[in-house]
Amino acid sequence: MALFDPYTLRGLALANRIVVSPMCQYSADEGRATDWHLAHWAQMLQSGAALLFVEATAVTPEGRITHGCLGLYDDDCARALAGVLARARKLAPAMPVALQLAHAGRKASCAVPWDGGKPLRGPRAWATLAPSGVAFDAGYPVPRALDAARLAVIRDGFADAARRAGDAGIDALEVHMAHGYLLHEFLSPLSNVRGDAYGGTRERRMRFPLEVFDAVRAAFRADRPVGVRVSATDWVDGGWTLDDTIALARELAARGCAFIDVSSAGLSPAQRVDSRPGLHVPFARAIRVETGLATIAVGLITEPAQADAIVANGDADLVALARGLLWNPRWPWHAAQALGGAVGVPPQYRRGVPRGR
Ligand SMILES: Cc1cc2nc3c(=O)[nH]c(=O)nc-3n(C[C@H](O)[C@H](O)[C@H](O)COP(=O)(O)O)c2cc1C
Repeated sequence: MALFDPYTLRGLALANRIVVSPMCQYSADEGRATDWHLAHWAQMLQSGAALLFVEATAVTPEGRITHGCLGLYDDDCARALAGVLARARKLAPAMPVALQLAHAGRKASCAVPWDGGKPLRGPRAWATLAPSGVAFDAGYPVPRALDAARLAVIRDGFADAARRAGDAGIDALEVHMAHGYLLHEFLSPLSNVRGDAYGGTRERRMRFPLEVFDAVRAAFRADRPVGVRVSATDWVDGGWTLDDTIALARELAARGCAFIDVSSAGLSPAQRVDSRPGLHVPFARAIRVETGLATIAVGLITEPAQADAIVANGDADLVALARGLLWNPRWPWHAAQALGGAVGVPPQYRRGVPRGR
């Protein structure tokens, strides 16, 4: 049994190998955390996982996917995050909390999923920004190509948000370079057709994401980890590939990146995803072997034995669950029972644990 072995992520002690994957809740009020986040975070902090990732959190207002997305683009957002997080932490056993810093790029300005998730129209819509004026799909607006001044604003936005996250008590950061959002749009040749120093060769396409990583790393506590979520492949011919991801991970490793959180897809509606259990595990393994970086495997990991084998085989150091934890927020309790591990159960609930475990 490896899933319940402790782990240290660049100085951050984790009780086991289970991570709550970042999950947008679309329930913020102008970027500010609300009572929904209090309930959600408290529930996830009670889950028995080792690390909670707060959802994609926008570094500038136009970087939100929806009007309901969380932000850290001003001090009001930071105060709300710090306050709600402090209250959630009082309701659960101690667990470190990480946060994902994001900019939605050309996939911003959409309705929340339960209102259809499509690009907004009319007065509630806003102009989207991207490396190049290439729309995500039919029905999506053509984004504005970022000029040097706006690139600087976004890079500074990442750094300022990183500083605010640290001040709010966040223990680790993840820079979102996946799922077709802004930094992934720079990486992929399908969305980045710039003719300047930020487009063209793979090295040039990696330049802005790496500058953002450096800015975040420099703005966050040196003794706390900063990692990156990647889309290991676009699943489209001519798009971003696993080889590209390994090259990016090598650059990130040289810059002090603590981990790579390995997902895929989201860049193009032409993607053909090979959706099967643990679909990203082989990518996580390849990145771990090739770069020596710690990896998180995510995606269709649903069974305790499956999660345990991923860690035991050395495919990944940590496993992240998203939908499985929404469905069963005590998945780690049940996995511990199945595998003979132990999790921190709040004392109020201990009588519910079968056989006094
Ligand atoms: C409700 C919901 C919200 C999500 N929000 C984010 C997010 O904020 N950032 C991110 O990188 N991935 C997000 N994802 C993707 C998950 O983190 C995860 O990678 C994906 O769901 C696959 O894992 P699973 O099979 O365990 O659900 C979200 C997924 C769900 C279901």
